[in-house]
Amino acid sequence: SLPCDIYATAGTPCVAAHSLVRALYSSYNGSLYQVQRASDSATANIGLLAAGGYANAAAQDSFCSGTTCIITKIYDQSARHNDLTIEGAGGAGVADVGAPADALPVTVGGHQVYGLEISAGMGYRDNSTSGVATNGAAEGMYMVTSGTHVNGSCCFDYGNAETNNQDTGNGHMDAINFGTECWFAPCYGSGPWVQADLENGLFQSDSGYSKNTANTGTGAIPFVTALLKNNGQDHFALKYGNAQSGSLTTTYSGGEPTTSGYSPMHQEGAIVLGTGGDNSNGSIGSFFEGVMTAGIPTDAADNSVQANIVSVGYGGSTGTTGTLAAGSEISLRATTSCCTADYIRHQNNAAVLSAITSSSATVDKGDATWIVRKGLADSSCYSFESRNYPGDFLRHYNYQLYRQPMVGTTQFRQDATFCASTGKSGTGTSFASYNYPTRYLRHYNYNVYIASDGGSNAFDSATSWTDDVSWAVTAPWAP
Ligand code: AHR
Ligand code: AHR
Repeated sequence: SLPCDIYATAGTPCVAAHSLVRALYSSYNGSLYQVQRASDSATANIGLLAAGGYANAAAQDSFCSGTTCIITKIYDQSARHNDLTIEGAGGAGVADVGAPADALPVTVGGHQVYGLEISAGMGYRDNSTSGVATNGAAEGMYMVTSGTHVNGSCCFDYGNAETNNQDTGNGHMDAINFGTECWFAPCYGSGPWVQADLENGLFQSDSGYSKNTANTGTGAIPFVTALLKNNGQDHFALKYGNAQSGSLTTTYSGGEPTTSGYSPMHQEGAIVLGTGGDNSNGSIGSFFEGVMTAGIPTDAADNSVQANIVSVGYGGSTGTTGTLAAGSEISLRATTSCCTADYIRHQNNAAVLSAITSSSATVDKGDATWIVRKGLADSSCYSFESRNYPGDFLRHYNYQLYRQPMVGTTQFRQDATFCASTGKSGTGTSFASYNYPTRYLRHYNYNVYIASDGGSNAFDSATSWTDDVSWAVTAPWAP
């Protein structure tokens, strides 16, 4: 059974079921989301490969070929039709824009699909819903999100919010929040935390504060299950899990915040995704699937949902390795004689060259593994997505290389696109920068740049340039 089948059987049916990647009912065979392309503003609905199955990402690729697309609608798979559209202006933010449709390629269920990558200024909403809890009614909700694409700005939320995009007071929201924003210090650990955005605060407990020593955050794991349930009267609970393995952990199950307005709750029944209730939209985050239920699901149902999420294999390997072809997982090894055991890996957000061996730590192997994608600015060239930071790509900035989230701008697309040719030294492959075509991906002093063959920067040095810009495309270090 799929998540909404499980919740229906448990007597707490989904009243909203949103996913970019898969069906959430085994019988669902409708559209998942709508994309709009830049070239002619035409729209297309993206559906499933089969009833109860996975997104037909190839349909998106062909519709968006030669141009770019944004996501304009996320369909509700429940019979309630609580579809999300791009969020309008609110008390704390101008109208949002749609997320780029190709920013977050990911393998789920053995299929390459796309998640939703929210950058600052992006969000989705439905202010006119059916069946969603209002005024102290009970509800549950979960989402699958990412612990590697977060920030400390308000407020990457999914759940119940105001119907007018304004902060209308305590208890007027009941949404899962995920990020590194500690609203009421102290928070414990470094996050990111699964919290409850109940309006005018991100709560980890009833104290009115974030203080909860049981909630130290998920750490930078690529796929997270985040869950909130609230009886609307005097009790809420928070859970998190690794969406790739294991079970859920409850960090809180107890009373509502003691500050006035939260007990009972005053939910208004709108659904928000990616921003705060008043459209505070400085936050970033990733969304793959999420549901809201009528009534509080049982813990047994939550556990079955988590087991189903784990079973579909979020972030599984693509099945292709070691080749320069879209979908292939690779590592990039230097060929200069100094450095033939060194690979391009990310570290503290920058790309560097470092030695990786079979006994390297798992995180180092992951950092040195890239998934080849068709070029974000030109499909005849390539982009390189981080294996362990989904939706982050190798891009240059000020001629240096970094791992950064794909925000969808033309600048980012160009900075993250590299065009391959035979290695300048005669061995391996060289990669020209798409927007600085005389500059090539080069290591210099164990940092990585786009460098010209001679020039004013130290890293443009002509000495060993041809070797430094020639790379071996190898089997990936990560399994
Ligand atoms: O509760 C945190 C945030 O505070 C809400 O999301 C927003 O509406 C308000 O700014
Ligand atoms: O890396 C060179 C340029 O530096 C990039 O195109 C731009 O993003 C930044 O200004």
